[in-house]
Amino acid sequence: TGKPTIYKGLVGVYADVSAISKVMPETNSLTYRGYAVQDLAENCSFEEVAYLLWEGELPNAAQLAAFKAETAAEREISPALHRVIREFPKDGHPMDAIRTAVSFMGMEDPETADVSDAAQRRKAKRLFAKIPTAIAAAYRASKGLEPLRPDPSHSFAENVFHLIQGKVPQPEVLKAFDVSMILYAEHTFNASTYTARLVTSSGAEMHGAITAGIASLKGPLHGGANEAVMHMLKEVGGPEQAEEWLSTRFDHKALVMGFGHRVYKSGDSRVPTMTKYAEKMAEVVGDRRWMETSRVLAAKMLREKNIHPNLDFPAGPAYYLMGFEIPLFTPLFVAARITGWASHVLEQAADNRLIRPLSWYTGLEQRPVPPMSAR
Ligand code: CMC
Repeated sequence: TGKPTIYKGLVGVYADVSAISKVMPETNSLTYRGYAVQDLAENCSFEEVAYLLWEGELPNAAQLAAFKAETAAEREISPALHRVIREFPKDGHPMDAIRTAVSFMGMEDPETADVSDAAQRRKAKRLFAKIPTAIAAAYRASKGLEPLRPDPSHSFAENVFHLIQGKVPQPEVLKAFDVSMILYAEHTFNASTYTARLVTSSGAEMHGAITAGIASLKGPLHGGANEAVMHMLKEVGGPEQAEEWLSTRFDHKALVMGFGHRVYKSGDSRVPTMTKYAEKMAEVVGDRRWMETSRVLAAKMLREKNIHPNLDFPAGPAYYLMGFEIPLFTPLFVAARITGWASHVLEQAADNRLIRPLSWYTGLEQRPVPPMSAR
């Protein structure tokens, strides 16, 4: 029989149905549970969006208060996890740290092996609450600093700044951060989300699926791009050097990080909103260099290659201007995407069939095993 069509990278393949989010590349738009993502970003907190993704509807005031109280009460990580984190190599990558911490949390979780929908939902909330605490503890341990205790009166965004930076910034900064969390929360069957669904399809539990999702997100073609963007902007140096730097990049046919997308070919729906808030950060900090450099790069990419920026392009400088160190950018993406991953884990488990595709064999023909003396 002849070779079947191979969809390398599963390009254009519908692997399942999903009612969580919808990408419409023809109109550069994205909705979560039917709401446009830019509308959610402007009008909701990240906690509201987390609730929406998991429950299917936006919370009313009482539901939101209960959700915030329930998750804020779960922010502490165990003394055992703090000890494990202190043993992490000081020069380890924060993504490896949070991947390891989530795996450890799975072993400690009181309901670890319970894959019922109710238990999986409780585990998702615990992860949502504890991930920032673990990211911050590992970051501070790598600097020889003691971890800070979460304060249950803080919002999700306030908590992240408090735990990592030791201070809560002004409202404009908190809003820009919340916007980034909302925009990063969910994006259909991207590599890390599909990884989480694939793990779930074997009947494995929430923490395993999320650990695998984090491993997938680290790659520079996926979440790792937000860090790569900031390294790139620093390498360029400023708007004056941007045209020439990019021309050299074109000469080498090198990838330009933060550009291109598998699904959006004429613009990523999340970019205008994130760019607006990154610009606000530049104003707050009084440093326009990175956004001006970005503008020159984006204009030339579009003019000469017809390639648009993706969300990581404005998110990278936004996080930098918010005062986060570059290796924390992808862990912050984890703190957001746990919401989307967990929704997909629940959806996959609710209507599961083991994910098991076929491979078309291109190796050697079948042959006998030669004796040792004849090899
Ligand atoms: N820089 C230079 N050329 C590019 C880029 C880029 N960033 N992205 C795509 N192209 C070119 C690519 O070389 C190809 O050219 P040709 O047809 O001559 O071979 C053409 O555009 C089509 O691209 P593709 O490789 O077929 O696209 P893909 O769907 O396989 O890959 C991608 C999508 C995101 C992996 C890719 O665009 C890329 O590597 N971008 C840089 C990394 C990045 O920013 N990733 C973040 C993705 S979005 C947010 C997230 O998931 O975290």
